[in-house]
Amino acid sequence: MADYDYDLLVIGAGPGGYVAAIRGAQLGLKTACAEGRETLGGTCLNVGCIPSKALLHASEYFDAAANGAMASMGIKVTPELDLPAMQGQRKDAVSGLTGGIEFLFKKNKVDWLKGYAQFKDAHTVEVGGETKTAKNIVIATGSSVTPLPGVEIDNAGGVVVDSTGALELSAVPKKMVVIGGGVIGLELGSVWRRLGAEVTVVEFLDQLLPGMDMDVRKEASKIFKKQGMTLKLKTKVTGVSVEGKAAKVTVEPAAGGDAEVLDADVVLVAIGRRPNTEGLGLDKIGLELNQRGQIETDHDFGTKVDGVWAIGDVIPGPMLAHKAEDEGIAVAENIAGLTGIVNHDVIPGVVYTQPEIAGVGLTEEAAKEKGKIKTSKFPMLANSRAKTNHEPDGFVKVIADAETDRVLGVWCIASVAGTMIAQAAQAMEFGATSEDIAYTCHAHPTHSEAIKEAAMGIQGKPIHM
Ligand code: FAD
Ligand code: NAI
Repeated sequence: MADYDYDLLVIGAGPGGYVAAIRGAQLGLKTACAEGRETLGGTCLNVGCIPSKALLHASEYFDAAANGAMASMGIKVTPELDLPAMQGQRKDAVSGLTGGIEFLFKKNKVDWLKGYAQFKDAHTVEVGGETKTAKNIVIATGSSVTPLPGVEIDNAGGVVVDSTGALELSAVPKKMVVIGGGVIGLELGSVWRRLGAEVTVVEFLDQLLPGMDMDVRKEASKIFKKQGMTLKLKTKVTGVSVEGKAAKVTVEPAAGGDAEVLDADVVLVAIGRRPNTEGLGLDKIGLELNQRGQIETDHDFGTKVDGVWAIGDVIPGPMLAHKAEDEGIAVAENIAGLTGIVNHDVIPGVVYTQPEIAGVGLTEEAAKEKGKIKTSKFPMLANSRAKTNHEPDGFVKVIADAETDRVLGVWCIASVAGTMIAQAAQAMEFGATSEDIAYTCHAHPTHSEAIKEAAMGIQGKPIHM
């Protein structure tokens, strides 16, 4: 048998890769993880989930003080923005967590190979000027921003930026144009709107947040408009020109029509992300990409090449940190001879705006295509805790199979929807019916009671509506 440097070598230390490496080491595999960035944690910890949530959380406090939400509860304050300090706490959050992964690597004896890895053959990579061999190699190289043809992103210039640049702005823009009404556009657009920017979101499709339930998408549009965002749906950007510290964004109806020019001092391009495969040397191992530039795997996360596996944003499925993490655990377990499985039908998605928007399982539209269904919606306005907290917006919707009553999907718009959706995911993972949820005792007064009441709506009637 060939003698390898490692049992497992993971390329990329994002939530997919670092988790795979740690689990591999925990299972007794001699493990290394190659990462080209200066710090571990990938997109999520460095320029994604964590820094965006640091700014979302801080800007939410500012907004509550500035927009009268605190005053309505008897707390009168006039907030003053200290943006450098707000940005400082964002950086502290990132360095604390990326340093934490470095600590975990040392604790679990995972070698960090510093540099960008490139395949030489299916069991050999070159990284940081050295050649390393491994019996198993996991590709976890993640994704990067999809460019908009003809629009040059210049994060250092601070005018036309991607999500990384939008996290690092040193001043609140007066006018911000967001290209793309998806998750990034709405989260980062919300941050800067709360801090005082006039935000216009330009979305090509007829609704925000493609992929989510249509009721949720429509309600989200109403809420963001009420919060002061200008939404230009069914609109395409045909050009962006920059002069000094200002930009002009030319847009026109997606179906064609008169052009309009939008002034902006910051333009955020957020039209999706694409897998990182360039420069990996996949040609050296004969691994081809699918039409979307992704690496295809089987159920075990093995690729067509023996000994080469892939997980996270670089393979098909939602580009989410928790999906990558679960795949990281599963692939390491499969490599170690155990049975690692990810149920891709039950992966929650959360948009961390205020209110939060969350869903798991099928949309009503998709569920209807598969067969007969029952649905029920319960408004947050009728939930005692949300009402008491002055959080009237949103609803919970439960979708169940008409025949078996099995829950097929749950959608929530609520201040804590991201936390609420975990119970729905767990229920679905256990094959719950809407009756199971309706007869589960939920603590009072909690927002989660709205899930129970929506399920009761399928059984007959909720109490509080
Ligand atoms: P990544 O996190 O992208 O990590 C891949 C790593 O591989 C990178 O560090 C890269 O430097 C490294 N790499 C690439 N090529 C090589 C190579 N050849 N050699 C060595 N290293 C290499 N998801 C959520 O679930 N919740 C959120 O709240 C959320 N917020 C987000 C906010 C923003 C602004 C963005 C941009 C993304 C957000 N995401 C969120 C998505 C999430 O960040 C990704 O789904 C997740 O990071 C994917 O994990 P991954 O391990 O597949 O890849
Ligand atoms: P996205 O796919 O969520 O949204 C992109 C939006 O841009 C879509 O609505 C699309 O219709 C629109 N669009 C595409 N081309 C356009 C054009 N030319 N003009 C106008 N609109 C156009 O992608 P986004 O927001 O860039 O996020 C990338 C990924 O990062 C997502 O897949 C998401 O899963 C992940 N992410 C997750 C977060 C979370 O879980 N909270 C937060 C941020 C990102």
